[in-house]
Amino acid sequence: MSKRPVTTKSDPDTTGHEWDGIQEFNNPLPRWWLWTFYLTIIWGVAYTVAYPAWPLVSGATQGLLGQDTRADVAAEIQRYQEANAPIEAKLVAADLNAIASDQELANYTQNAGGAIFRTWCAQCHGSGAAGAMGYPNLLDNDWLWGGTMEDIHTTITHGIRNTTDADARYSEMPKFGADGLLEPEQIDQVVQYVLQISGQEHDAALAGEGAVVFTDNCAACHMEDGTGDRAQGAPNLTDAIWLFGGDQAALTETVTNARFGVMPSWTGRLSEADIRAVAAWVHSRGGGE
Ligand code: HEC
Ligand code: HEC
Repeated sequence: MSKRPVTTKSDPDTTGHEWDGIQEFNNPLPRWWLWTFYLTIIWGVAYTVAYPAWPLVSGATQGLLGQDTRADVAAEIQRYQEANAPIEAKLVAADLNAIASDQELANYTQNAGGAIFRTWCAQCHGSGAAGAMGYPNLLDNDWLWGGTMEDIHTTITHGIRNTTDADARYSEMPKFGADGLLEPEQIDQVVQYVLQISGQEHDAALAGEGAVVFTDNCAACHMEDGTGDRAQGAPNLTDAIWLFGGDQAALTETVTNARFGVMPSWTGRLSEADIRAVAAWVHSRGGGE
């Protein structure tokens, strides 16, 4: 193995530094390296003159090229807004129920509505809108507050049980246990009754007692037959779809402490066109009425 010579001089210059007998040569820097180095300095100076660079007390030097990424973004947004303005105007003017049958509007709401959903709604309702515990699935035809375009549009516009929108949908299930409205035995009985009407395993004797408790305390909202009341957002208790869980423990918790699902109002945060687009998107997911 031939070693590349590190110096050709017989008596090389050294820097005079020495560590454990190892001396440091004082060779000049390679020319290519030096020129690259000078070029980077020139480049750096030129860049700070051409582009926004040096921070000042408020803002920064603007640069001779006048480049401004914020203005670029604003211009880009403006361009899209102008491009979408006609279709958005058409969407806002359309009858809510005519949106799905207008091919142009249907296409637009599929794209724009899906994007709005992923931005604003997915964190609660899931990226595919299938929901989670406490956050309803928007894909099925089991609706708390209603699944027509008008219903969905109203729900999104004003939200549910929030304190910011006076027109928010509102209802409150009593805390039967926590507020002492029912005795623990009565809660056990009515829970068995709910298990029965939802087709689950139950204690028939307790459920029989529970039917009476239900009629007296629950039917006003969940209806005599337990199928719920959309005017009050009271869920159907006879199917296998549960917002907060349908087993004995979850039902006992619901009856004892009640639930209070809150959804924000979107008035002011989304434009009417955006609300309509996302409403149409939700409506078209399969559960729309
Ligand atoms: C902070 C969480 C949250 C966000 C964000 C949110 N929602 Fe909701 N949404 C809820 C909750 C909770 C409910 C159920 C409230 C209840 O228990 O009645 C709900 C209910 C609904 C309903 C009624 C479902 C039914 O069965 O009647 C619709 C429709 C809906 N949301 C659509 C949307 C859309 C569209 C967006 C985005 C613009 C959105 N939600 C954003 C929490 C949220
Ligand atoms: C004043 C109306 C009202 C009364 C009375 C009422 N509920 Fe409710 N109930 C509601 C509402 C509204 C909800 C939905 C709460 C939410 O979404 O946050 C609910 C939710 C439930 C749920 C949860 C359903 C699910 O899908 O997870 C159960 C179970 C339930 N109620 C059982 C009962 C029983 C049993 C009684 C009687 C002891 C009762 N409710 C009385 C209004 C009522």
